Amino acid sequence: MSRITSAALTGVDGAPVEIEVRISSLLPRVDIVGLPEAAVRESAARVRAAVGAVGLRFPDRRVTVNLAPAELRKSGAALDLPIAIGILAACAEVPNEGLPGLALIGELALDGRLRGVRGALSLVLACRDAGCRRVVVPLANAREAALAPGIEVCGASSLRDVLGDITGTQKLAATEAPRIFDRDADGWNGADEGNDPDGPCLREIRGQESGKRALEIAAAGGHGVLLSGPPGSGKTMLARRLPGLLPPLAFEEALEATRIHSAAGLLDQRRPFVRRRPFRAPHHTASPAGLMGGGNPPRPGEVSLAHRGVLFLDELPEFDRRALESLRQVLEDPVVRIARARHNCVFPAHFMLIAACNPCPCGWYRSHKRDCRCDETTIAKYQRRVSGPLLDRIDLHVGVPAVEWKDLDRPAEGPDSRSVRARVVAARAVQHRRGVTANAELPDRSLDAVAGATTQARSLLGRAVDSLHLSARAARRVLRVSRTLADLAGEPHVLPVHVAEALGFRHES
Ligand SMILES: Nc1ncnc2c1ncn2[C@@H]1O[C@H](COP(=O)(O)OP(=O)(O)OP(=O)(O)O)[C@@H](O)[C@H]1O
Ligand SMILES: [Mg+2]
Ligand SMILES: [Zn+2]
Repeated sequence: MSRITSAALTGVDGAPVEIEVRISSLLPRVDIVGLPEAAVRESAARVRAAVGAVGLRFPDRRVTVNLAPAELRKSGAALDLPIAIGILAACAEVPNEGLPGLALIGELALDGRLRGVRGALSLVLACRDAGCRRVVVPLANAREAALAPGIEVCGASSLRDVLGDITGTQKLAATEAPRIFDRDADGWNGADEGNDPDGPCLREIRGQESGKRALEIAAAGGHGVLLSGPPGSGKTMLARRLPGLLPPLAFEEALEATRIHSAAGLLDQRRPFVRRRPFRAPHHTASPAGLMGGGNPPRPGEVSLAHRGVLFLDELPEFDRRALESLRQVLEDPVVRIARARHNCVFPAHFMLIAACNPCPCGWYRSHKRDCRCDETTIAKYQRRVSGPLLDRIDLHVGVPAVEWKDLDRPAEGPDSRSVRARVVAARAVQHRRGVTANAELPDRSLDAVAGATTQARSLLGRAVDSLHLSARAARRVLRVSRTLADLAGEPHVLPVHVAEALGFRHES
């Protein structure tokens, strides 16, 4: 009997798995027990071929592979390698001595090569938490896995390499952690590595002053934005400049984003680390599962790939209605829960939403530049596609009118992304000291105390709630945006000017 530690992916998290192998002298067959999914059940065939390919004998007796804990669903092919070594150890083809404290992860090809797996970083973290000091992973995952602190990571390219390591004939070398961060200081090497200094700049956009202002406020307080205007006015341009205004990713945030991309199989193995705020722009034909996450085994959707970054929904009214309704929920509580008979998992989805739409199907409703060709019912129907409750959850509504030629013809002017970002970082620092990452997350119960609105500011808000028929939720949201405006201005109290500007970004007005 042998026992090996490995891990399985549930959602974006790894869970440790113990592989026990027993060999008995019954008829030759392989049983894998302990809730294996299809890919794990098929492991037996890959393992048999790979063992043959390295010239070792697969036991012609009964092999029972037990995966513990029994109640955890095991999916994916990452258990191939530990199953193979477990079987070889159980029939004494490899020594048991090399195994304690060692974890194994990897999919086997029929010729014995090791293939990369999804979620390597999370799997390695789970092995570390299970008490392993060293882990062997496929070479393709070694750099990503080496980000895990507190465990030695070795990359192997084949089953033969792993056997050499366990028998001691050729020890595998430890993979260096990528130099982009400093393990000991638990932080970045180079404070401002987070965002792309050569990314698109705000200054390239002519006119659209209120659009640019909205982006600055959004970035400073983590507020959602809806841009509405005729075709070709710069909505997409504006949205693409939002990530560049955000503070750089903190190390822990980068680790979270990396684990999500890894679980989705989307990590670039040459640079296996998400260092910049994600910017996801799914097409409006995206399926609800593609957007929210799903599938079997479940994979993170666009909302999770945008975790700690920006989700851009261009042509908002064209998105699937059900998808938009689930979006409402994630905006309230930034996680996606996928509950199935077989899988129960949670994907983080903490993102900033920026959406764009035209005011009507032809795009020119209420524009002074051209006439709208749509009739009233078409316009009403188009606008109803995005529900009131969803609109209510987007803090900043901005009109993006067609730009005049005289503005387009002018040289670039106005603030550049770098200087706006500096103001954003300063405003966020104030919010950090209050214990939140952004004002948009201020809980209702502490909002009033934190906002510290003056009497005049409160009465202005009160009058607006009545005359504009704002919902209670909208009123709270206006106050949060006002707090952000005060933070940008370095004011300890929310003043009437802040409330007035915040009200200007509600669509009711
Ligand atoms: N305000 C602007 N300043 C400078 N260039 C602009 C501006 N608006 C639009 N452009 C030019 O027009 C192109 C299209 O702009 P953009 O894609 O942002 O428009 P849009 O509002 O998203 O249109 P649509 O509603 O069709 O999606 C840009 O790539 C840019 O070259
Ligand atoms: Mg566009
Ligand atoms: Zn129209």
